[in-house]
Amino acid sequence: MINKAAELIRESSNPVVFSGAGMSRESGMRTFRGEEGLWKEYSPEQLSSISGLRADPELVWSWYRMRLIAGKNVVPHPGYYALTYLQEQKGHLPVITQNVDGLHRQAGQTDVMELHGSMRTASCIDKCGFSVHLTSELLRADPPVCPDCGAILRPDIVLFGEPLPPETISRSYELAEGCDLMIVIGTSVQVWPAAGIPFAALEGGAVIIEINPVQTELPHSDNVISIRRKAGEILPVLTGFKEKR
Ligand code: APR
Repeated sequence: MINKAAELIRESSNPVVFSGAGMSRESGMRTFRGEEGLWKEYSPEQLSSISGLRADPELVWSWYRMRLIAGKNVVPHPGYYALTYLQEQKGHLPVITQNVDGLHRQAGQTDVMELHGSMRTASCIDKCGFSVHLTSELLRADPPVCPDCGAILRPDIVLFGEPLPPETISRSYELAEGCDLMIVIGTSVQVWPAAGIPFAALEGGAVIIEINPVQTELPHSDNVISIRRKAGEILPVLTGFKEKR
């Protein structure tokens, strides 16, 4: 199974990566679902929606502060560098991610589509035009407010109930439909429209290599090879990436 997947990656002419929270698990970021998932302790509607942010900005910003501080010392694990190595081998490797932690770019991937935005910046909730890199002093203000109009700031991630950036989602679907191989890493494939991307790849005739320790919504088919391993462990094996010691 692993040798077959490694061979498919070696032979693919236009692979695409699709990743979720599990891709960052071995870098220390928590996932949303599953045993230790964030949504077991917190309500997404309360903490990751515009209505929740307006109803209780202190609660929502204290949650993001916790995640940002947790994310501050987070670095890409070897699985990320294996993807950068694959990008160098292939000359180009589009990465479609649901993650907002910026780790794909930090590891050197250059064509990254952040479907759910980025946790590294914040902007005015009333769209007056102010936007800023989230820094620790901003996070001391509880909740941070817009210096131009006094409204609260919001993290630049796509909150529940908001549309995904239209150009990002349409390019992602185009890449999915046109690729010959999609490496689907660390996602429960449950949150649409992002979750439709692997299905679009299958409809376009691609083979999927899924890396996830547990079973997901992806169908059982000859075109889906599911490797029940962790991303940080198996990506170097599948790509032939050797960490420089
Ligand atoms: N390697 C690979 N996969 C892993 C690892 C690992 N080390 N650890 C956990 N996983 C898998 C889990 O088994 C799970 O299937 O990662 C998946 C994470 O699933 P979710 O927590 O649902 O994350 P994701 O699929 O990215 O969620 C999509 O939901 O709440 C929203 O906006 C949020 O972008 C997020 C979206």
